[in-house]
Amino acid sequence: MMLLTRGEVLGHKRYSEHYHSLTIVAPEIGERITPGQFVNIKCGDGSAHILRRPFSVYRVHKRGGWASTIEIVFDIRGAGTRHLSQLRQHSSVDLVGPLGRGFALPTRRAHCLLVGGGVGAAPLFFLADELRNDGHRVDVVLGARSTRMLLNPIEVRRLASISRITTEDGSAGERGRVTDGLEEMMERCETEIIYTCGPHPMLEAVSKVCVDKEIPVQVAVEELMACGYGVCMTCVMPVRSRRRGKDEVEEEVIYARSCTEGPVFNGAAVLWNGAAEAVAKDQSELSPTGVPVRQSFVDTSGDEHAPPGN
Ligand SMILES: Cc1cc2nc3c(=O)[nH]c(=O)nc-3n(C[C@H](O)[C@H](O)[C@H](O)COP(=O)(O)OP(=O)(O)OC[C@H]3O[C@@H](n4cnc5c(N)ncnc54)[C@H](O)[C@@H]3O)c2cc1C
Ligand code: FES
Repeated sequence: MMLLTRGEVLGHKRYSEHYHSLTIVAPEIGERITPGQFVNIKCGDGSAHILRRPFSVYRVHKRGGWASTIEIVFDIRGAGTRHLSQLRQHSSVDLVGPLGRGFALPTRRAHCLLVGGGVGAAPLFFLADELRNDGHRVDVVLGARSTRMLLNPIEVRRLASISRITTEDGSAGERGRVTDGLEEMMERCETEIIYTCGPHPMLEAVSKVCVDKEIPVQVAVEELMACGYGVCMTCVMPVRSRRRGKDEVEEEVIYARSCTEGPVFNGAAVLWNGAAEAVAKDQSELSPTGVPVRQSFVDTSGDEHAPPGN
């Protein structure tokens, strides 16, 4: 259930010089939200702030209901995030949540590898806490362009059984991208499922490795969003889907809304850029707005890509 609530800032701090963190007392949301879901925050009153901005939840602290907090982390991109960066203790925050569909967790003990890039790693910290509480093994690959854009690598070392840090400029950890040496890391950790969040090219590359190795992969996408609750269709992603027909399972491509059907998807089922264009060119059934709503397609999703035990 989605709630509109007013929270109070408990604290504002920095992770490296790059990221801001706000801890917000919002018990109704904190008690209900699951890793991968997001909140939509009103970021000021001017015309630049009409639309709420979506943020993943980085950490949740449940304190017996009445004082539960959520923590978000962000970098300053525009007017909305600049407004948030100016909030201090006791500031009031207007927020809606929990929104979207979060990560599916394994139902039997599993080795989970979390792969995060830049601020996209934010929801993976909350996920790591929940996985560890459920007795799963957590390994992490954390990457960014440079040291100052790595999100809390010290905490990653604490959370993970095995961790690997990469930066593109080599200023911390290994020089390169999170996807370099990913297969080797998967073998070393005996990975049974990957959870990932970050820029789309990274999600696509991680998904490709997982499809090749037949490992389930859950991706959290950060699509541009307007309404955040399923009305405007700004956030659609082409995704292969299976529908049970009368006699057989039918396969199709649907345009799924990241804000309601996502932001977490089966990475093996997403049609990343190239494939999506191919479908758009070959569209046979159009919605009134010209968006292809259904396509038959060879399906690569399904039970074999579900988290272990599901
Ligand atoms: C489900 C979800 C979870 C997110 N979680 C986080 C998070 O934990 N931390 C964080 O820092 N950001 C997160 N984002 C991105 C965040 O919503 C944008 O940074 C924010 O809306 C920018 O608002 P602004 O007014 O500061 O910038 P704007 O002036 O609105 O935009 C400035 C720049 O940011 C880019 N931008 C705007 N919205 C997005 C978006 N949705 N994704 C990527 N780039 C965007 C624009 O292309 C533009 O270049 C998330 C987005 C989604 C959809
Ligand atoms: S943001 Fe409006 S439908 Fe997803």
